[in-house]
Amino acid sequence: MKRGGKVDLFVLPNRLTLLQIFMVVMLVYLLFMSFEIPLAFRAGFGSENGSIFLTDALPMPVPLMLEESHHRVQNQGPRVMKLEKVSTLRFNESFSEGSELHKVARHAWVTGQKLWGEVKSGKVKGFEKFKVVENRTDTCPNSVTVSGAEFRGKGVMVLPCGLTLWSHVTVVGTPRWAHAERSPKIAVVRDGDKAVMVSQFMMELQGLKAVDNEEPPRILHFNPRLRGDWSGRPVIEQNTCYRMQWGSALRCEGWKSRADKETVDGQVKCEKWIRDDNNRSEEWKATWWLNRLIGQKKKVTVDWPYPFAEGKLFVLTISAGLEGYHVSVDGRHVTSFPYRTGFALEDATGLSINGDVDVHSIFAASLPTSHPSFAPQMHLELIPQWKAPPLHDVNVELFIGILSAGNHFAERMAVRKSWMQHKLIKSSHVVARFFVALHARKDINVDIAKEAEYFGDIIVVPYMDHYDLVVLKTIAICEYGIWKVAAKHIMKCDDDTFVRLDSIMNEVKQVQSRSLYMGNMNYHHRPLRHGKWAVTYEEWVEEEYPIYANGPGYIVSADIAQFIVSEFEKHKLKLFKMEDVSMGMWVEQFNSTRPVEYMHDLKFCQHGCIEEYYTAHYQSPRQMTCMWEKLQHQLKPLCCNMR
Ligand SMILES: *[C@@H]1O[C@H](CO)[C@@H](O)[C@H](O)[C@H]1NC(C)=O
Ligand SMILES: *[C@@H]1O[C@H](CO)[C@@H](O)[C@H](O)[C@H]1NC(C)=O
Ligand SMILES: *[C@@H]1O[C@H](CO)[C@@H](O)[C@H](O)[C@H]1NC(C)=O
Ligand SMILES: *[C@@H]1O[C@H](CO)[C@@H](O)[C@H](O)[C@H]1NC(C)=O
Ligand SMILES: *[C@@H]1O[C@H](CO)[C@@H](O)[C@H](O)[C@H]1NC(C)=O
Repeated sequence: MKRGGKVDLFVLPNRLTLLQIFMVVMLVYLLFMSFEIPLAFRAGFGSENGSIFLTDALPMPVPLMLEESHHRVQNQGPRVMKLEKVSTLRFNESFSEGSELHKVARHAWVTGQKLWGEVKSGKVKGFEKFKVVENRTDTCPNSVTVSGAEFRGKGVMVLPCGLTLWSHVTVVGTPRWAHAERSPKIAVVRDGDKAVMVSQFMMELQGLKAVDNEEPPRILHFNPRLRGDWSGRPVIEQNTCYRMQWGSALRCEGWKSRADKETVDGQVKCEKWIRDDNNRSEEWKATWWLNRLIGQKKKVTVDWPYPFAEGKLFVLTISAGLEGYHVSVDGRHVTSFPYRTGFALEDATGLSINGDVDVHSIFAASLPTSHPSFAPQMHLELIPQWKAPPLHDVNVELFIGILSAGNHFAERMAVRKSWMQHKLIKSSHVVARFFVALHARKDINVDIAKEAEYFGDIIVVPYMDHYDLVVLKTIAICEYGIWKVAAKHIMKCDDDTFVRLDSIMNEVKQVQSRSLYMGNMNYHHRPLRHGKWAVTYEEWVEEEYPIYANGPGYIVSADIAQFIVSEFEKHKLKLFKMEDVSMGMWVEQFNSTRPVEYMHDLKFCQHGCIEEYYTAHYQSPRQMTCMWEKLQHQLKPLCCNMR
């Protein structure tokens, strides 16, 4: 094969005959002589330090614009490979009319080609995110007032510059009367389909600007459940949610938090309350009082009722303290919620209220008048330190492909500034690249192209991004890993995965010689056949999935990756929309002829972060930075969450 030959030429120069070497040297010499090149360049050429020198001479981002190349390995200088910017996986030939997935893929490919053509032609304007937005500062008002009627239309109040220390938001509202619900999420339904009376509302500080077209992170979720909670009591739940992953809830059930437990700015997390205005059975009241007397050693004094009542007006204020949010209702402190790593006050750019409540008015005051990071897209820091190091002719032990969505600018920046600063990556023993498909918004594509050009760590997979086609990025990762960097192992992760490189390399090195599939394995998992994420029988016939490693972090050896790519190019690779299950299926197929070592480890954490993790998932940009700092300064793999 042509490209095989090129690899050989590149990797094994000693196979060349003397004559060939002589001819190459002459050619290069003539080339250099015929162009006017700086003296310094000539002086450096041929010295021992040639590789370092040429690295500097050929700055990594080859000038605009991402030329699509069909050669697998470019032999530009003696020791520096050209960095590809576009995946060269041959999608266009690989999809028949056959299945639904193939149709989607063909369509995405055609649309993607068009979009990418437009970006390359320079017709579309983007770059907006790269401008310094100095005159956008001082544009935020110090206070915002919204009437109930105005609010009802939208359900969200925008706090353009977020919050700052001691900002406060006051909401005047009235909880609605309970209504019957067949299957409320907050209750345990006992008697079959008997309806439960429910009254609850949700007040949330959200990070509206985090990412377009994605559910915003909930920085504070404040959820009073007047009626209908599974405990049978009125409670207040507070929580956070990032990428649809909830943290552990802080529930206030009417007991005062013990003062010896953690307080927030000196306030307890939960105040006590009594509930004398309900219509519970006497028996319930008795046990409640008994419990209460057991729980509280002190003598019972006058207590306040649960702060919310159906049909009763309340005035609620959320204020931002040093250590957390404080909520008071009708002038009395009710709850405090410590800040969780991963969210900052300035990120809280929206207040949403929904549920069984009528809002009469909202006031926000002591707001910041400027925002240091107006839109996280503008977080892109064009500083050479964050650029990908050039690829030297070293043995790449591990290639890491990071799945990322086009508009995840802040997420990519956080990865660059955290674990991608590891010395193994800086020395090119480990190479990491983001795999990004094209976005429906043209200006975002232009920005991606610019970002790719500057940092040199993005591989554009030229199809229109689609949830069901993530599996194609996995194949593109395999292709790049084996053909472009000739890595011994290929790892796949997401842009909210934190990777602890040392420990992963240690694990991988123990099984150098064999075929390897490593990750957090799922055994005997069955497809969901109902609901939003349902898998049809057309998509997956069998009752069970093969053994597969969770998607946020797994590793395969190069021979497996090679098998996947060659099967794909022969149009023989079976595709399934879940990329991690697909990988399990391919490895199983590979294992039928050559034995594979399956290595299961829970330290490839799926649900968040555990101590001694190898990978941690659902880490927000701020958590990434925090974990990296802990790893650097405390030399310990510690988590940055409160879960
Ligand atoms: C090559 O680099 C070494 C140190 O890295 C230096 O001592 C030496 O002078 C360099 N040689 C040339 C020819 O630049
Ligand atoms: C697919 O694209 C490659 C280049 O990307 C081109 O060489 C080839 O002819 C194309 N094949 C088809 C069937 O369009
Ligand atoms: C922002 O600043 C630029 C130059 O610094 C100026 O041309 C432009 O008019 C300013 N825009 C606004 C909205 O003030
Ligand atoms: C609650 O009990 C009182 C009497 O104790 C009664 O008048 C009222 O209607 C009851 N409310 C409901 C909602 O059942
Ligand atoms: C891999 O192949 C071996 C030999 O055919 C078989 O014993 C083993 O069960 C296979 N492993 C998996 C996970 O399928």
